[in-house]
Amino acid sequence: MLRLVVLISGGGSNLRALLEASEDAAFPARVVAIGADRDAEGLAHAEEFGIPAFTVPFTAYPDRESWGAELVEQLGVWEPDLVVLSGFMRLLPPAAVEALSPGLINTHPAYLPEFPGAHGVRDAIAAGVTQTGASVIVVDSGVDSGPIIAQERVAVLPGDTESTLHDRIKLVERRLLVQSVLDIADGTIDLKELA
Ligand code: GAR
Repeated sequence: MLRLVVLISGGGSNLRALLEASEDAAFPARVVAIGADRDAEGLAHAEEFGIPAFTVPFTAYPDRESWGAELVEQLGVWEPDLVVLSGFMRLLPPAAVEALSPGLINTHPAYLPEFPGAHGVRDAIAAGVTQTGASVIVVDSGVDSGPIIAQERVAVLPGDTESTLHDRIKLVERRLLVQSVLDIADGTIDLKELA
């Protein structure tokens, strides 16, 4: 059974997809804890599913490095096989990436390497493209630049706003994330080989 810790900053719909998948006894991974960098709305899912949660508030630390060191420390308590950044909107400092690699993956609402960063959906709309996508990647020291585990195209429809497009992307993203975790758990994907 793969032990997952999922880190969130927002509503946690991708987290919820993993929690729901974990309810199937045949799913080879379990969310053992949920972490956040702020008082995230998605922590309500932790409560609903009875999963322990912790918060390491970014703003409570003097710099990114000390915040990241505390986050790694708290993650370690749960002995995760895999840490999933699931709408976690803070860049981890290099030392944290190094400490958690290669068992550190991220989900992103664009077809990487297109539109990396915090505004992948907004940037796709601004660029006027007719298709964007969703990606699950291994985290490396860059911004959304790690090896791709899974990705799929999503059409940008006439009249799409950031919100309508993001909602459609998230449907794909959740499926890709659950499948990626499954593939990592059963060895179809070897993160050591990818990283
Ligand atoms: C997701 O679309 C995720 O890819 C994105 O935030 C959303 C979180 O949704 N993350 C990034 O943009 C990271 N660069 P959720 O909280 O409902 O899972």
